[in-house]
Formats: sequence, C-alpha cells, structure tokens
Amino acid sequence: MSAPAHPDSTDLDRIHAAVKREKEDLAPESQPAPLWATFLLMLVAIIAGGQLGPMTGGWSFDVSNPFALAGGGDPRPGGAGAGGTLDPFALAMKKGASGYAVCGGCHQGNGMGIPGQFPPLAGSEWVTGGTERLIRVTQHGLVGAITVKGAGYNTPGGMQPFGAAMSSQDLANVLTYIRNSWGNEGTMITKEMVQKVRDEEKRATQWTEADLKPFADKNVPGDIPAGPGATAAAAPAAAK
Ligand code: HEC
Repeated sequence: MSAPAHPDSTDLDRIHAAVKREKEDLAPESQPAPLWATFLLMLVAIIAGGQLGPMTGGWSFDVSNPFALAGGGDPRPGGAGAGGTLDPFALAMKKGASGYAVCGGCHQGNGMGIPGQFPPLAGSEWVTGGTERLIRVTQHGLVGAITVKGAGYNTPGGMQPFGAAMSSQDLANVLTYIRNSWGNEGTMITKEMVQKVRDEEKRATQWTEADLKPFADKNVPGDIPAGPGATAAAAPAAAK
C-alpha cells in the first residue's frame, strides 16, 4: 500500500515534533568535553570533598559515626568502636567470649564441662593456675589421665591442640576469657605471652599431666592484672 496522498493532521504533528527535537549543529570548531576530563573532575570533586569535611569544623568518622554511642562503643560485632572505646581487658573478654565457641562444645557455655567426659574450666586450677601450663595445654593439646578439682578424667583422644588453628591473639583472648568467667579470677593473658610459649615450645604431641608438672605453677612473664584499667604499660615485670 502506498502512502496516502494527503497525510492527515496527526502525521503533520508527528513530523513537526520530530523536527523540534533536533538540536542545532555544533559550531565547526567546538567539541564535546572529552571523557577523561569528566573523570578528572569527578576525582577532584571526591578528593576535595574528603578534604573539606575534616578541614572545616572537625568532622571525622569517629565523631560522625552513628554507631559510636556515648561510652558504649560500637554495638555491631567487630564494629569500629570495639577497638576504640573498650579498654583492653573488656575487649579481650568480648572477643574471647566469641572465640570460646570452639571450646564450648566440650567444656560447655557455662564452663562446667560434662562429668566424666569433659573437665570443667569453671573453678579449674588448670585455668586459674600457672599460665605456662594453661597456654601449653591449649597450644599442644592434652591426653591421658588428669585430675581437675579432685575428679579424674581420661577421655579417649584427650584434647586436640589448638595452636595451629588459632592465632596468638585469638588464643590470648579466649584464655583471658576463661580465666575471668564463671567466678574464675585470673590475670590477662596477652598475645606476646602466647607467642613466647609458641617460640620456646615446638612439641609435636599432646601433653600429659606428668609432662606438665614443672609448669603447673609457673607464669609466663608479662601478664596483666585483669580489670577495666588494664593496659600493657601497667603490667608488672612478672607476676609470680
Ligand atoms: C573436642 C572437645 C574439646 C574441645 C573443643 C576443647 N577441649 Fe579442653 N579438654 C577436653 C578434654 C577431653 C580434656 C581433658 C584431657 C585429658 O583427659 O587428658 C580437656 C582439658 C582442658 C583443660 C585442662 C583441664 C581443665 O578442665 O581445666 C583446659 C584448660 C582446657 N581443656 C581448655 C580448653 C580451651 C580453652 C578450649 C578452646 C580453645 C578447649 N579446651 C577445647 C576436650 C576439649
């Protein structure tokens, strides 16, 4: 079918609308801005914006962080405030509590263990006693007959070593946590203390109670009294 000889007014409107949409040609010598210039401007705007904030009126992420509640720290797990506002002891306890998940399956969330199977950590002389022994037990594992709070345990396979699975810092946090939970009171264990035992002791097999005798009452130097004021600087030379 051929086009109608007399297009109706609807077609005229369409044609005119199309003509009106056309833009004028650029002057011969003008060019659209190159793409790199656009990106350069964006970059300048971002950097300038980042500078303007802190330089005018003391804006900072700390001050403006909506999660940083007064004194309470960042409530999100692992939030920024966790490192900034908690004192070292509170921070170790907080991180140790979550790290304790790997122990809790056996020693239980309340630290009471399971009679005849998994010894308790609550009230255990192994936990609150010498840190040389406690670090070694968790670093290399423990097997064979042991006595905890007067009760005998000899679980087949004993306890596996955790040295390879946990960093010195993670282990230090968990040990600080078990030494200061469920009524236990002990000093803080630092990652330097765990690292020191790691460097000295290259044992490849689990400990036995007899092997650990010499370490039962010994403390690795550098532990810190537990408590809100705990800082590495306040550490006594060696708590014996
Ligand atoms: C798979 C079970 C299991 C897990 C997980 C486990 N333990 Fe044990 N733990 C044992 C057993 C079993 C013994 C006793 C070993 C023996 O009889 O020689 C023990 C002994 C101990 C002792 C010495 C005895 C006492 O009760 O005080 C300490 C301290 C200890 N564990 C701490 C830990 C810590 C800290 C963790 C987590 C990092 C942990 N354990 C994870 C099973 C476990």
